[in-house]
Amino acid sequence: MSDALSALKLQLEWGADEALCEQALDRRGRAVPPASQPSVASAIPASPASFALAPDLFRGGAVSRAEALANAAQTLEELRLALAGFEDCTLRAAATNLVFADGNPEAGLMFIGEAPGAEEDRAGLPFVGPSGQLLDRMLRSIGLDRSKFLITNVIPWRPPGNRNPTDAEVTLCLPFVLRHIALVRPKLLVLLGALATKAITGNNAGIRRLRGKWLDVRIPSLADPVPALPMYHPAYLLRTPGAKREAWADLITLKLRLDRVFTKN
Ligand code: URA
Repeated sequence: MSDALSALKLQLEWGADEALCEQALDRRGRAVPPASQPSVASAIPASPASFALAPDLFRGGAVSRAEALANAAQTLEELRLALAGFEDCTLRAAATNLVFADGNPEAGLMFIGEAPGAEEDRAGLPFVGPSGQLLDRMLRSIGLDRSKFLITNVIPWRPPGNRNPTDAEVTLCLPFVLRHIALVRPKLLVLLGALATKAITGNNAGIRRLRGKWLDVRIPSLADPVPALPMYHPAYLLRTPGAKREAWADLITLKLRLDRVFTKN
């Protein structure tokens, strides 16, 4: 299906079923109107979060073990095996599968979500349930499929009953996702939702404030900061149809940067 048709289908699905102009406008390549224009990205690169942790996590050395294991991995397969053997995160015991990543690690574009849900846990793949299907439709409308990006989560095991991951679980898994980014060396990152945005940028301002703004993020062992775009999580969009307008503006923001970064003249 062409990008234009995918974009039109997404608009219809999101309730834009009336044409208000006499003349058709191609909005895909246009700047976002001022009302929804995000402010300029911070000049100071952001750094991943550190959380106030229960002292026994430090005492037992679980965080140090996570860092040592993650940083020893020299390839994505080594990282996957390191995570598979990491026993300090108790989520592992309740999960069916490790959910490592899907898509193309060479593509230069990386999406990071929160944690797997039931379908992802069964399949061992990220974003294959309802929110993943919405994300796929959204991304198809700007010409992206999983051959054009890599997708993973901050937390690689499903939290029981889809509860929110705790700060301790995020802290234990963070060294692995940071190493994942360092090994992939993406040109651009997209952070899906509040948890991924806070964990990777260390910025506490909240997703409503941060969405749609490019932030430069420092990743350990990468020389240059990586531009990262926080967006609403697709699960939030499923619950909050009113946020789709902002999500569409963010998709355009992403598309404009992709065109600049990946289109060779
Ligand atoms: N939500 C996420 O954040 N990740 C998934 O893989 C699925 C749903």
